[in-house]
Amino acid sequence: MVETGESYYISGEELRQWQKQAKIDAIAAEISAIELDQFLEALTDLTHLDIRLDSFGDRPSIQLNQPWSAIVKLWERRITERVPLQYLLGVVHWRNFALKVSPAVLIPRPETELIIDIAVSYHAASSEAINSICQPGSGNWVDLGTGSGAIALGLASVFPQAMIHAVDCSWSALAIALENAQSLGYQNRVKFYQGSWWAPLHSLKGKVSGMVANPPYIPSQELPNLQPEVVYHEPHQALDGGESGLDCIHHLVQTAPQFLQPGGIWIVEMMAGQGQAVTSMLESAGCYRDIKILPDLAGIDRFAIAYVQW
Ligand SMILES: C[S@@+](CC[C@H](N)C(=O)[O-])C[C@H]1O[C@@H](n2cnc3c(N)ncnc32)[C@H](O)[C@@H]1O
Repeated sequence: MVETGESYYISGEELRQWQKQAKIDAIAAEISAIELDQFLEALTDLTHLDIRLDSFGDRPSIQLNQPWSAIVKLWERRITERVPLQYLLGVVHWRNFALKVSPAVLIPRPETELIIDIAVSYHAASSEAINSICQPGSGNWVDLGTGSGAIALGLASVFPQAMIHAVDCSWSALAIALENAQSLGYQNRVKFYQGSWWAPLHSLKGKVSGMVANPPYIPSQELPNLQPEVVYHEPHQALDGGESGLDCIHHLVQTAPQFLQPGGIWIVEMMAGQGQAVTSMLESAGCYRDIKILPDLAGIDRFAIAYVQW
């Protein structure tokens, strides 16, 4: 391989030899070989098709976006330290966004993508039912526990007239979220706040059209049993939902009615098996109606939705 100034190259044959061994290592570590394809696609000038069709072996040179020695070390970290691919590459593709991620933020999950579509359809239904208290997609929407900013930015994209208020207790997560908002051009419509849940949003009491949250919901004692990528690399404050897993969701059930306007929407992501407990919490709060549990695309109960009574 050749490393000249800012340009780095490797021959197709050398890369193919390395790829063969890297695939064996991946399979032995129970890591999908597809990740290796994604890794090479992100760090070389090869296309997805070049890699899938294995059509690069005869190429005299393949351009790399960093020195080959650094690329080899990155893959070693994937195998030996179980660092998630998204952290190694610094990016995740989520809905139509390429979002920056680092170990300061939870990697936004594919199942969470649906929460944006749920917000759109429940907002449309509520606007009709209460004779348009607010213009479709306008008003204040809140993303509590924003992490990388994924949900806040998703809301900004589907509600072009709305102001989005995104809160996290982690300054380092907020720094990443702000970078994502700036790179997608949403910095004027997404405001970021540091603090605990609703605490920084006092001025919005009674004025919020919708609250969306993917809070920590894993029971504390289950954390050590999660896959190594999660346990060793993702921030525990993004995962740990207390003894029952429901501490944060319970707090959001109790506090949201002061902030949501009548007919305002409450949407929360939860873990498989929590649907009944969350429904009971919402029912016993006494101020929610039309409580529903919706599945994700795998058919697992994943989202709880309710309206504040009007
Ligand atoms: C499961 S992650 C969700 C991140 C992002 N919304 C997503 O869906 O990818 C939960 C987030 O809640 C934040 N968090 C935990 N406790 C919090 C609190 N008391 N107040 C605000 N945010 C909190 C964590 O820092 C983390 O970013």
